[in-house]
Amino acid sequence: MIRFNQKEGVFHIQTKSSSYVFCLSDFNVLEHLYYGKKIPDDNVRYYGNRQIYSHLGHESREDRSFSPSVQGMEISPFNSGDIRTPSVIYNCDGDLDCNRLRYLSHVIYKGRKPIDGLPFSRRTTDCETLEVTLVDKGKNLEVTLFYTVFPSVDVISRYMQIKNTCKKDITVQKLASACVDFYGMDYDVITLEGIYLYERAKVSRNKLERGTFKNESLTGTSSHNKNPFIAICSHNANEDVGEVYGFNLVYSGNFAEEVSVSHLGDTRVLLGISDVGLLWTLKPNEILCSPEAIMTYTDKGIGQMSRNFHDHIRQSIIESDFAFSSRPIVINSWEASYFAVSEQKVLELAKSAKDCGADTIVLDDGWFRPNDKSGLGDWRTDKERFPSGIKGLAEKIHAMGLKFGLWLEPEMVNENSDLFKAHPEYILTTSKAPLISRSQYILDLTREEVVRLIADRISEELKGAEIDYIKWDFNRYATEAGSFSTPQGEVYHRQMLGSYKLLSLLKERLGKVLFETCCGGGGRFDLGMLYYSPQIWTSDNTDPYARIFIQNGTGVAYPVSTASCHFTRGDCTSGRESTYEFRYNVAAFGAYGYELDLSEYSDEDKKLFKEFSEKYRRNEDLNLSGDLYRILSPESSNFYADIKVSKDKNKALFTFLEINATGFIENMALRLKGLDPDKLYKNEVTGEVLHGATLMNVGIRISDLYRKKRSDGYTVAFTAI
Ligand code: DGJ
Repeated sequence: MIRFNQKEGVFHIQTKSSSYVFCLSDFNVLEHLYYGKKIPDDNVRYYGNRQIYSHLGHESREDRSFSPSVQGMEISPFNSGDIRTPSVIYNCDGDLDCNRLRYLSHVIYKGRKPIDGLPFSRRTTDCETLEVTLVDKGKNLEVTLFYTVFPSVDVISRYMQIKNTCKKDITVQKLASACVDFYGMDYDVITLEGIYLYERAKVSRNKLERGTFKNESLTGTSSHNKNPFIAICSHNANEDVGEVYGFNLVYSGNFAEEVSVSHLGDTRVLLGISDVGLLWTLKPNEILCSPEAIMTYTDKGIGQMSRNFHDHIRQSIIESDFAFSSRPIVINSWEASYFAVSEQKVLELAKSAKDCGADTIVLDDGWFRPNDKSGLGDWRTDKERFPSGIKGLAEKIHAMGLKFGLWLEPEMVNENSDLFKAHPEYILTTSKAPLISRSQYILDLTREEVVRLIADRISEELKGAEIDYIKWDFNRYATEAGSFSTPQGEVYHRQMLGSYKLLSLLKERLGKVLFETCCGGGGRFDLGMLYYSPQIWTSDNTDPYARIFIQNGTGVAYPVSTASCHFTRGDCTSGRESTYEFRYNVAAFGAYGYELDLSEYSDEDKKLFKEFSEKYRRNEDLNLSGDLYRILSPESSNFYADIKVSKDKNKALFTFLEINATGFIENMALRLKGLDPDKLYKNEVTGEVLHGATLMNVGIRISDLYRKKRSDGYTVAFTAI
């Protein structure tokens, strides 16, 4: 609900449990008052800061109580009186003298508007939007702040639009989607740190200190190393209690999030596209929109923050056709054969697929090239290895009662390709000798003609082929942000807009196809990609021990159904051995599938795989729509444990995994979470019937779990009776 109190000049955005409040100051500047636990409408102005620091500038000569450097600000242009970290910077002819943005008008309406060219929280029901337009009278430009509230999931989204209403060009240098000020600095900052093969594996928590904490990616992707998710929380917050503010950005390119503590000990959180290298020219009447930021508040700990985001992402970011629908159980050719794929091999894989309970065959890289050195950009099927072409192969797979998926990497071109030879100017580069990575360059998608050309080539090659699933890969970082046709300061963001355009075009042309995005493993695991693809390849690291950390971190910000997890040989990246059961128990965390050469496995193995697939299907509803409760963190113990509970609390699945078999059995009980204390639950393994209250307070004794082989891990389903 959004209310404007005319008399007080106060905007109050309310979710089920939180309040976000700002007002028009006496000087028509938007003053941030409060974000936190839900408060009543009365006395809201009381929350404003009225401390007087005479050395900091103030608006009025008579009354020193309003100072832009002391008050909370909804938007803070550089050089406009606020000496803290600015949220926007723009100049006109090099003149950086932004003015305080003054209120012009506002409107509140049901639903929301789309953001042109960018992904966003797409839901239009059960939400309300506030648009506040501000003006910089000196520069003559208009800024509109958009707030949409999704009350039932405690999420508020924000973005801004800047419009040049003057006669000269304006250059935008910084454009944060959200600026949220907090009194005090008693917070920890949580980010998801990683690296290739270990994406989001470290849930990093640091005590906020004076100065600026920056979470940033400059790779042209959201990256393996950083993630646009960030949270601040009270020092005492844990999984179940404490105040947590979670933030994320609906964007897949260079981003920056700054958490700055001012000399007064106040905290400012900024989220947006990175300002490094950003110089965006707005001609008269042109508009630039920032990506959307989302935020949630809870006083029920990090676990509740995750669940708020999970619900929001499933309801508003992912396409409704896929969000809650059963996903394919794929068998993917990559770890089965790498580049050595052929029609015959794929058909052989398909023959065994059903024996394992898989329903979709995914032909990964290699269908148009023998290695990674050629072919990208030309998109010509290797007819020697695939004599029936993609269309013919898809028909054969369908005739076997299976679905067909295909790998693509549309944003790239190999150096050894006809496209690159004919159009060396179609790549993203600043110099004549750009860095080469995996023998490929990134195509310059800031150019509309390149976007169209690639979309046409791929659609032409796949014409008539019935494809059910696309794996959309991206295997190098942008190391030189330059274009032969686009101004350098606009390249990174325009490139992202071009990628989104290409995704939209191919989705349109291919029809109702499930997209799984990927970026050399999990290098673009973000809300921008989830807008186009309900699931993302989580990491090239499929060693289940490492995957526990990767999946645990990923689940902090993203629903488990978005994390694509395959049962594989398990030892490819680490050489470490693991039991089949353990690999299954880890992979069943997310969207389950296989990536194996099935000819190496016996009929008995396949029978077991089929049982795994069936077990996964029985509990898939919990992955798609249930609530995730983390019980033991692999980062602070030798174990991982979680429970997924259905919304009606009638069904739950508990998972317990041991990371290093130490032989040491701790005398501990694991308290389950999220159950209904008054319901009776049947333990589907032991047949015991216990109250939710017993399971959540007394817990499951760990020694009971060890009746089984410890290296397998342990799962148990609970059903309310
Ligand atoms: C990187 C992906 O993460 C892998 O799964 C595979 O698709 C390869 N690319 C193919 O080149």
